[in-house]
Amino acid sequence: MIRQEKMTVILQKQIATNIFELTLQGQLVQDMTPGQFVHVKVSDTFEPLLRRPISIANVDKEKNEFTMIYRAEGRGTKFLATNREGQIVDVLGPLGNGFPVEAAEPGQTALLVGGGIGVPPLHELSKQLNARGVKTIHVLGFQSEDVCFYEEQFKALGDTYYATVDGTKGTKGFVTTVFDEVKPEFDVFYSCGPLPMLRALEGYYPDKEGYLSFEERMGCGIGACFACVCDTTENYVKDYVKVCSDGPVFPKGVVAL
Ligand code: FES
Repeated sequence: MIRQEKMTVILQKQIATNIFELTLQGQLVQDMTPGQFVHVKVSDTFEPLLRRPISIANVDKEKNEFTMIYRAEGRGTKFLATNREGQIVDVLGPLGNGFPVEAAEPGQTALLVGGGIGVPPLHELSKQLNARGVKTIHVLGFQSEDVCFYEEQFKALGDTYYATVDGTKGTKGFVTTVFDEVKPEFDVFYSCGPLPMLRALEGYYPDKEGYLSFEERMGCGIGACFACVCDTTENYVKDYVKVCSDGPVFPKGVVAL
């Protein structure tokens, strides 16, 4: 169920260059699944009034808390980063359709591939896959070491490999460079990140079942404004999809890359 809720800030922490981790508490946590997102109103008092879509990195239903990780680069997200413990943030969510955890059977191996600010939703996904008895391999791509985060958390869940464009952490290059080096064996892949990465991944493993989460510019977040429309491949029944309400996760082969 989608709700709009005034949530309480439990923790706000900078975890890498311009990257913040924000933990909020409230009832809408109870309905969250991995790969969904929330639409956050960054300020009640001044522009920008638009909400910002932010993915869900960690869910704790017992404490009614969830954590999101975001990059503070625009005016809105920079303002969001000024919120402190005890303050209130207006959140709409959970939104969209998340990753199908059940696509990987217990005993199977899942390859989780993330790029930049597409990495956070893979953390909650990996937790839930591991809880189901699925082994996870993580391949995470970043620009450089100073924007990497959650290394310990991913390593605690499964084998974890890094690629950085400038070579300051892990393999120098892209996630595909890691595939060449490590040659991971797996049954299903899940991914979230920029389009060139998703395109490369889809081309790299054409015979594997896979699910891709898209990062699109959004307006309403609930399927009403068409700001997030993407063309589909010719095999798909509809000509276009809305990333916010039909996605953000789609089986591979649905969205034209
Ligand atoms: Fe408005 Fe998707 S953001 S339809």
